[in-house]
Amino acid sequence: MSFPHVRPRRLRSTPAVRRLVAEVSVEPRQLVLPMFVRDGIDAPLPISSMPGVVQHTLDSLRAAAEEAVREGVGGIMLFGVPDDADKDAEGSASWNPDGVLNRGLRALRDDLGDATVIMADTCLDEFTSHGHCGVLDGAGRVDNDATLERYALMGVAQADAGAHMLGPSGMMDGQIGVLRSALDSAGHQDVSLLAYTAKYASPFYGPFREAVGSSLQGDRRTYQQDAANRRESLRELELDIAEGADIVMVKPAMSYLDVLADVAAASPVPVAAYQISGEYSMITAAAQNGWIDRDAAIRESLLSIRRAGADIVLTYWATEAATWLQRGT
Ligand code: PBG
Repeated sequence: MSFPHVRPRRLRSTPAVRRLVAEVSVEPRQLVLPMFVRDGIDAPLPISSMPGVVQHTLDSLRAAAEEAVREGVGGIMLFGVPDDADKDAEGSASWNPDGVLNRGLRALRDDLGDATVIMADTCLDEFTSHGHCGVLDGAGRVDNDATLERYALMGVAQADAGAHMLGPSGMMDGQIGVLRSALDSAGHQDVSLLAYTAKYASPFYGPFREAVGSSLQGDRRTYQQDAANRRESLRELELDIAEGADIVMVKPAMSYLDVLADVAAASPVPVAAYQISGEYSMITAAAQNGWIDRDAAIRESLLSIRRAGADIVLTYWATEAATWLQRGT
């Protein structure tokens, strides 16, 4: 009988030694909280497909944002949910300074100043009557370059409203370059761009569509990436870097950890990953059924995204996870 001399179990034998040798960890400063602000409601509205997440009023948004900052989260990503009556084919409420998203951004910047990084979703889908991320041409296809003109208007309005960082999530070609030029021409050289570099068409966005009251029929497969493809994310990375991206992102996170690892290995700028609505809801639903340990599953999911290479993680659990992390529980 020959017993092993080399025993990897030694470094797993106590919590203290496991803590000592852990390669990655999650810190509150690395977490970004996505939030929804909705027009025309007077109390926060629960999102049934995302138990625990709400559409905020302006007031509840401010309170929840203050709490997130107190717990040390690194940033807030704001999405707007306009009244249906304010949606049109172009999504023009998105560049109206009094549109719900811009009012939300202004309120957050007024309250929080530079205490956290205030990010804006720069995409038309919440504001268009057809629910697509861009404007449509005569044949009903999403028109790339006509959409870029609207993104430029929207991005400048968001910067005017106080956003520190824009997150163009629509997957139009050239969106980073166009936004960079538009911001620079408007005197917003200091507003940065979080590029949705690798964004895949995914059924895991399902709960988000309820969260933003999306009007979409059909899918986004002509602009978001195909789940079968890995290499093209490196091409998207090269383009976004060339166009001036300050941070690059991979989305969804958990079904694209290979893509995240590729992008993290090749990127000269910080890398983010978005743990999306479906990832949130799957863990939440399984835990509600008593099938998994909720908190442990959340921790492991965040750790796996960090381990794959994300410097920054967008997660609906940002405030809660930051609370545990701060208290060391
Ligand atoms: C679209 C957008 C989506 C998400 C963020 N921005 C949905 C989509 O592309 O269909 C998804 C976020 C989530 O699922 O949590 N602008």
